[in-house]
Amino acid sequence: MMMACEVLKFLFLQFLILNFVCCCIGFDPKDKYYINCGSSADVAVGSITYIADKSSSRFLSTPEDILAHTSSNSIASSDDSVLFRTARIFTKPSRYTFPLRQSGRHWIRLRFYPFLYQNLDMKSANFSVFSSHKKTRLLSDFSPQNGTVKEYLLNVTSGIMVITFSPSRNSFAYVNSVEVVSAPDSLITDDASLFNPIMAYSGLVDQALETVVRVNMGGPFVSLVNDTLGRSWVPDWSFLLHPNLATNASNIGGVRYPGGGATQDIAPPTVYGTCTKMNSQSDPNSNFNVTWNFGVDAGFQYLIRLHFCDIVSKGANQLVFDVYIGEFLVDRDLELSSVSQGSLATAYFKDFVTPLMDKDSLSVSIGPSKLSYYPDALLNGLEVMKISRKGSFSIGASSLTAFLRSKKKLVMIVGVSVGVTFVSLIVVGVLVFMRRRKKKQEVSHSKIWIHIPVDGGASHSHTMDSNLSYCIPFAVVEEATNSFDEGRVIGVGGFGKVYEGVLGDGTKLAVKRGNPSSPQGLAEFRTEIEMLSRFRHRHLVSLLGYCDEKNEMILVYEYMENGTLKSHLYGSNLPSLGWKERLQICIGAARGLHYLHTGYTKAVIHRDVKSANILLDENLMAKVADFGLSKTGPDINQTHVSTAVKGSFGYLDPEYFRRQQLTEKSDVYSFGVVMFEVVCARPVIVPSLPREMVNLGEWAIKWQKKGELDQIIDHRLVGRIKPNSLRKYGETAEKCLAEFGVDRPSMGDVLWNLEYALQLQEAVVRDDPEESSSNNIHEISPHFNDVDTSNSFGQFERSSGDDLSDASVSKVFSQLIRSEGR
Ligand SMILES: *[C@@H]1O[C@H](CO)[C@@H](O)[C@H](O)[C@H]1NC(C)=O
Ligand SMILES: *[C@@H]1O[C@H](CO)[C@@H](O)[C@H](O)[C@H]1NC(C)=O
Ligand SMILES: *[C@@H]1O[C@H](CO)[C@@H](O)[C@H](O)[C@H]1NC(C)=O
Ligand SMILES: *[C@@H]1O[C@H](CO)[C@@H](O)[C@H](O)[C@H]1NC(C)=O
Ligand SMILES: *[C@@H]1O[C@H](CO)[C@@H](O)[C@H](O)[C@H]1NC(C)=O
Ligand SMILES: *[C@@H]1O[C@H](CO)[C@@H](O)[C@H](O)[C@H]1NC(C)=O
Repeated sequence: MMMACEVLKFLFLQFLILNFVCCCIGFDPKDKYYINCGSSADVAVGSITYIADKSSSRFLSTPEDILAHTSSNSIASSDDSVLFRTARIFTKPSRYTFPLRQSGRHWIRLRFYPFLYQNLDMKSANFSVFSSHKKTRLLSDFSPQNGTVKEYLLNVTSGIMVITFSPSRNSFAYVNSVEVVSAPDSLITDDASLFNPIMAYSGLVDQALETVVRVNMGGPFVSLVNDTLGRSWVPDWSFLLHPNLATNASNIGGVRYPGGGATQDIAPPTVYGTCTKMNSQSDPNSNFNVTWNFGVDAGFQYLIRLHFCDIVSKGANQLVFDVYIGEFLVDRDLELSSVSQGSLATAYFKDFVTPLMDKDSLSVSIGPSKLSYYPDALLNGLEVMKISRKGSFSIGASSLTAFLRSKKKLVMIVGVSVGVTFVSLIVVGVLVFMRRRKKKQEVSHSKIWIHIPVDGGASHSHTMDSNLSYCIPFAVVEEATNSFDEGRVIGVGGFGKVYEGVLGDGTKLAVKRGNPSSPQGLAEFRTEIEMLSRFRHRHLVSLLGYCDEKNEMILVYEYMENGTLKSHLYGSNLPSLGWKERLQICIGAARGLHYLHTGYTKAVIHRDVKSANILLDENLMAKVADFGLSKTGPDINQTHVSTAVKGSFGYLDPEYFRRQQLTEKSDVYSFGVVMFEVVCARPVIVPSLPREMVNLGEWAIKWQKKGELDQIIDHRLVGRIKPNSLRKYGETAEKCLAEFGVDRPSMGDVLWNLEYALQLQEAVVRDDPEESSSNNIHEISPHFNDVDTSNSFGQFERSSGDDLSDASVSKVFSQLIRSEGR
């Protein structure tokens, strides 16, 4: 039933998209203003008429009329060069006001060409340009030295567009042409279709974009007259890092547009029909990248759109390749024929949003994939668009320096971790159709219980001495793991392997053995010991001891019989959990996190909350694991930052990604995603699903907001959750996913609400739907005394019933010591 339903939904969606796309072909802009400034005559550029300046005067408000023109023949000829011959000069702030008929995306294009007019050298102009929409500063202290076209794409929601030219002190402004034209709304799709390397980038609809470069790979300049939306595309050769490694191919006639996704408005066939590809010269061992470099401004994020069309593959041997932006593998094993349902030469594009740039160049590379049967890779077109920041496209030199100082490390680190994590899940430009090959199947380990962090956590000034009591002899570890028998490996990570260990009396252990050749391993190892030995709580996985003999870096943890929460939700054959069990697990994990956030004088932020890091013991009691990435907050100093900023796809707080400000609320966000995962029992990212379903957080929120979360819950729970309990649960998860951290509840509040949802499930509550969400909660919350917002550590360490009693640790520990003696 569910399946059939999903299929129907999917078909319906495709149907909508097809219809939608049909309407966009031959886009007819509702608003179109083309002004040939400074000219007394209309001129035609292709099929477009730029009207004479005089007839535009009803749009213009300026104190003086200064029209300039040149007859110089140094202006390079191009389809629009006629527009460069005249200009309007402004000595005082002046503005164009255009009434708009339709809200939505609009192009603003401004042409500037400095020439000599009656001894006035227009190269000395210096001015700023603003658009009324959100007071966006388009240009700051701009002084063009040669002919240039500035192009912006703004989502305008008011009925007018005002463009103001404002001369800098003792200077003047000018402009050669002004155009304001509607763009198809489908051109820049909403946030759901954009995935940055870590997660969906949201908020693009509100951002202004500036075109930095628009490139036609492997082909000629495509002029504005050959583009349905009046854009121009430049050839790529000058951007190639090693032109000799690249070659080009062309088949313009062969380009096809699919039913959904790319249209001629996305890019014309002249762009999709040419490409730059690897110059493999028939050498099957070729192994190199083709790389393009582009100048950008540090301190901004960029939207990068890559256009692909496999015009080179023939027959069955279709190309598969990897795509990088900067150092980051953004698309692994891209197989164009499979994204276009088996057909070749089909237009396809993908969008990426970069982190804030910390340098002034950006590279894009393509190269062979591990799955390539023959090394080849291609790219047909590329657009780089700057995303406005704080309403501007430029930041002052001093704030830039400050930005670089503060953000440099962080930005790079976000990047690095991106490279390490699941990058193949990243991007869905349009609709991702079912991949023909399932390349990455979820591996289901019923027994993996600890995820190995790649790096350590916050550093402390304490020495190892304070932890000497945890030191375990190597011989004991060796015996417990049967000399690190490969058959006992229950997990593998960047740090090393995790083995199941058994002591003489049958007590099980988890033994994590670090790779001694890892250079930063030692510091991380020490940090983890510091962190773990300091935090003891029933709902945190405990460190039992460590071993550093013979250069070993071994950590020994309590064994968690029932593996990860994730493995109990999907991707395994484990029996399904009931609703009450799931609630209790969430409550346990929330307690562990609440303790981390409040149980110590300084909050500790876990940073990698996900269902794979919530482990279950033999009684299905939840414990949070892997706080190797944890940070003490809020004052994170430089040394902490330099370890790593990490997170997992689909769980990462968007605010953290955008602002790089780490707070406990980032954990709350991730926990909210886990809550939806628990109730829906599906992975947080499924790239093969229709676009709006790919990201669980976004998908579930959509249903929750409609009050219909029950439509998408795990089918095994249908009819088993009391509506009030589900409502409370859904509302809580929704609050956790609030866009801004300040709007999210604390972990203590979440815990409290989960307890309440459990009460609603268990108790016979008066069935008053209004009452249930807000009132009368205190009376039915009996076990609440251990949740306290006070920061007292002592309360948790010993007296609370919630902590791991030191007795149980020392029991196992003494066993470890004793078995050494044997
Ligand atoms: C433009 O004017 C600003 C402010 O007066 C000044 O800081 C800047 O150096 C000027 N730019 C040029 C190229 O003269
Ligand atoms: C235009 O001027 C800028 C500096 O103002 C320079 O970097 C660029 O190379 C020039 N472009 C051409 C085509 O001359
Ligand atoms: C423009 O912004 C409005 C309000 O933020 C949003 O509802 C709309 O979808 C946006 N349109 C486009 C085409 O991005
Ligand atoms: C561009 O358009 C012009 C006029 O419509 C046409 O003559 C020319 O062949 C086109 N160029 C390309 C590269 O398609
Ligand atoms: C490849 O590019 C060069 C230089 O722009 C051009 O002369 C040649 O015709 C192109 N080849 C193809 C197959 O498009
Ligand atoms: C291609 O570039 C990426 C990113 O810089 C790099 O990691 C990868 O090793 C390169 N591949 C080859 C074959 O050089």
